[in-house]
Amino acid sequence: MKTLLVVSGGDAPGINTALLQYTRLTRQNGDVTLGAVGSFAGALAGKIIDLQPEMIAPVAALGGTYLASSREPVLKETKNRDQLGKVLASHQIDNVVLFGGDGTLRNIPPILAEMGIACIGIPTTIDNDVPGTEMTIGFDSACNFAHQTIDGLLATARALPGRIFSVETLGGNTGILALDIAAAAGAHAVLVPEYAYTDEWLIQRLEDSVKREQYALVILSEGITASRTLLDDLKEKAGLRIRDTRLGHGQRGTTPSHRDRILAAGMANAAYDALRAGTKMGTVVVSGGKISLHGGKLADLPPRLPDQNLYNQINGL
Ligand code: F6P
Repeated sequence: MKTLLVVSGGDAPGINTALLQYTRLTRQNGDVTLGAVGSFAGALAGKIIDLQPEMIAPVAALGGTYLASSREPVLKETKNRDQLGKVLASHQIDNVVLFGGDGTLRNIPPILAEMGIACIGIPTTIDNDVPGTEMTIGFDSACNFAHQTIDGLLATARALPGRIFSVETLGGNTGILALDIAAAAGAHAVLVPEYAYTDEWLIQRLEDSVKREQYALVILSEGITASRTLLDDLKEKAGLRIRDTRLGHGQRGTTPSHRDRILAAGMANAAYDALRAGTKMGTVVVSGGKISLHGGKLADLPPRLPDQNLYNQINGL
């Protein structure tokens, strides 16, 4: 069996662990693994390399991805699909393992299926917003990265009381990441793009928290429209000092956590088994806490939303 590994969209901590595990499995079983450098755009430009475990091992414990990714939606164009078909045939590639987030795994497998190319998806995104899976590779590491910063903020918040701290996380247009971080950090408020709030409510909530606990912590998902303006408004309207921190892309490139490494190795095993069993289309998911295969299209599933009960509980609603 000859498999092409492709990473598409935002990288996630743990991808390298999965790449290492996959190449080890294929070698053990006498199969061959190739990698597209720069996703499908790279494959179209002929950037397909032979992958060996020794190449990936030195970066297995690092964030990012050994195989560069791309966000270029090249497969939208028919001429590129035709060209990809030719490229895969010229390398005698039997199937594809696709690493990506919500957009990638909803959109690309049906295109490949139409082209007659077997594909197994592995959900890799810090956003944890891929439908059909309880967990994506990278989410746990991104949460841990946030806690390192927040723990420091909370120490100084208690040492010098009377202030409000805001922390903005990545998460794109979903607030699942922000909500989980807020819950685990004991935040007094969390704002996510999916649920509405008013500035007046937020100020009241934070000022009350400072009165009760000497400090307030609010977690903002980056998808909150105009979060910069919100902070400026709060600085003007709230009667207390506000200190803001933006986690930025270091959160995405952080060191993979133990949980993400275990998940990545397990998902690589499941993807390999599915292709060996002749599966044409599917996504490796976590369901009921266990790794399994979701057959068919993810595009048919509803989008994943942040848990509204948890949101209400954190925000005292
Ligand atoms: O990959 C998901 C993600 O990290 C989101 O959390 C974030 O909004 C986005 O990617 C950032 O993308 P870019 O690196 O293209 O700015």
